[in-house]
Amino acid sequence: MIEIESARVSFSLGAGEEHVVLKNLSLSVKEGQTVSIIGSNGAGKSTLLNAIAGTVPLRAGIICIDGVDCTRQAEWERARYVGRVRQNPLAGTAGAMTILDNLALASRKGPRRLKIATPPVIARRMAEEVAQLGMGLESRLHENVSRLSGGQRQALTLLMAVISKPAVLLLDEHTAALDPANAEKVSALTKRFIQEFGLTALIVTHDMSRALSEADRIVMMHDGEIIADLSGEEKTSMTVAGLVDLFRKARGRDYAEDRDLLR
Ligand SMILES: Nc1ncnc2c1ncn2[C@@H]1O[C@H](COP(=O)(O)OP(=O)(O)OP(=O)(O)O)[C@@H](O)[C@H]1O
Ligand SMILES: [Mg+2]
Repeated sequence: MIEIESARVSFSLGAGEEHVVLKNLSLSVKEGQTVSIIGSNGAGKSTLLNAIAGTVPLRAGIICIDGVDCTRQAEWERARYVGRVRQNPLAGTAGAMTILDNLALASRKGPRRLKIATPPVIARRMAEEVAQLGMGLESRLHENVSRLSGGQRQALTLLMAVISKPAVLLLDEHTAALDPANAEKVSALTKRFIQEFGLTALIVTHDMSRALSEADRIVMMHDGEIIADLSGEEKTSMTVAGLVDLFRKARGRDYAEDRDLLR
């Protein structure tokens, strides 16, 4: 469960000026809910995820995860509640480490144990987990991650993000850098992991049809604010054209080029 109350994020422009990126944003996400976050470039979607993960601090407001106020917690302190996958396939894994060591780290065996060999029983479990990806990586556990393709690496990052069953899964355009076949594969895996582990997930995407099919709820952002929040029947009956239209209506035609929303 995520509860965000009146979150404000701003960046200093120098000379006492501030660029306000999240404007008193409030959002509550129930346990087990999957939310697609959509909106124009620069709307503040990544910043919202960064604020939840603790990468950027709030100037005002509160963020609670599973009832714990983590507003003032550092990113590393929140890492035990938060699983994360970013757009860049190179970002979520350590290229100079093996698949096995990356997974051992992610499953919270802890950095102190990295220097010693992973016990065979854990290695076997990891091989089973990696086999779930359906990418043949289970026979390559001792290879360095730098040898994997972008799609393989992103699938591994996803597994690393979910393996500890985090309270919150944050996905920021995590299939955007992949070719259509791999994007489809990672997207299907995402759906499966979320369902299997009953995760609470926020998925940022510019792919409107994926946004509609992957989530129980759609949150549309523009200029640091939530301008639409659809769930239940409203979401079920929504279409891609309907979303673009909603964006037009909410912001006025000047802002509402389709390319702002879709990319
Ligand atoms: N570290 C930072 N320092 C200064 N400005 C920032 C920083 N991070 C984000 N911004 C600004 O905040 C605004 C929102 O950026 P953000 O990355 O959250 O947008 P977004 O909705 O994820 O856009 P996109 O769809 O292009 O990824 C932008 O104007 C951006 O320049
Ligand atoms: Mg972004």
